[in-house]
Amino acid sequence: MNTKTDAVRDRVDATSVDQEAGVRASNEARGTPPIIPIRSLGEHHRAQILSHLIELDERDRYLRFGFIAKDEHIARYVEGLNFEFDEVFGITNRKLVLIAVAHLAYSPDDRRRQCAEFGVSVAKRARGRGYGARLFERAAMDARNNGVSLMFIHALSENSAMLGIARKAGAVLERHGSETEAYLRLPPASLNSHMTEIVEDHYAQLDYRLKAQSKQFHNMLAAFKALHHSWPMGGTKHPE
Ligand SMILES: CC(C)(COP(=O)(O)OP(=O)(O)OC[C@H]1O[C@@H](n2cnc3c(N)ncnc32)[C@H](O)[C@@H]1OP(=O)(O)O)[C@@H](O)C(=O)NCCC(=O)NCCS
Repeated sequence: MNTKTDAVRDRVDATSVDQEAGVRASNEARGTPPIIPIRSLGEHHRAQILSHLIELDERDRYLRFGFIAKDEHIARYVEGLNFEFDEVFGITNRKLVLIAVAHLAYSPDDRRRQCAEFGVSVAKRARGRGYGARLFERAAMDARNNGVSLMFIHALSENSAMLGIARKAGAVLERHGSETEAYLRLPPASLNSHMTEIVEDHYAQLDYRLKAQSKQFHNMLAAFKALHHSWPMGGTKHPE
């Protein structure tokens, strides 16, 4: 059942989609790709990553993992994430909730050091804003800067959104019946690719700090309002 809060949230979300779409359109008109802050996630984000993945419905779990992963499969996957070795990237909304997560798995095999596998999921309500494509680019840059020359994606052939992202980025697709492998050849790292990664990391940290401050401010305001309403006479103090 749709509650009043859901309706308000949907309106707010719709407004931000419109605003972001507007920014995207005006940036594209100027030939500048929109900047989406993407953070590198660590150990303390495990619970948030789990909540994001658990929210995926059966169809999305099937597309993301290649089978209808149950909650316990997802929990095991999240527990197994190795933040020392792999890279996990995330995009948060203004309330700091993770709305998109990408996993770049580096090969543990020394002979396959030059390969990395990419997997991603974007919350349903945040799709179509370019987050999937930006996470793909961000992961490709990280892979490139870590000496990887081949990033690959294992997707179901029916996953036109994922395969579209890979194809557009220049990946070669190899279809094997219901499954498709996409291979993206990466150029060697350059000073520019290293600098771009540093700048993007700083931008994402700054964005996170601003969102955290704004969230803290809104929480304070809400607490103040609640306190105000709990006073007798709707906030007017009785004269002593
Ligand atoms: C695949 C997924 C990550 C795409 O995320 P997204 O943020 O919506 O993607 P983007 O907004 O970056 O869109 C990328 C492109 O795909 C296209 N696209 C989006 N949904 C599509 C769909 N259902 N069918 C065809 N193309 C689609 C977009 O139009 C866009 O193309 P454009 O750049 O030419 O406009 C998201 O749909 C998802 O989480 N799916 C479930 C999990 C999954 O499939 N993961 C991938 C397996 S590893």
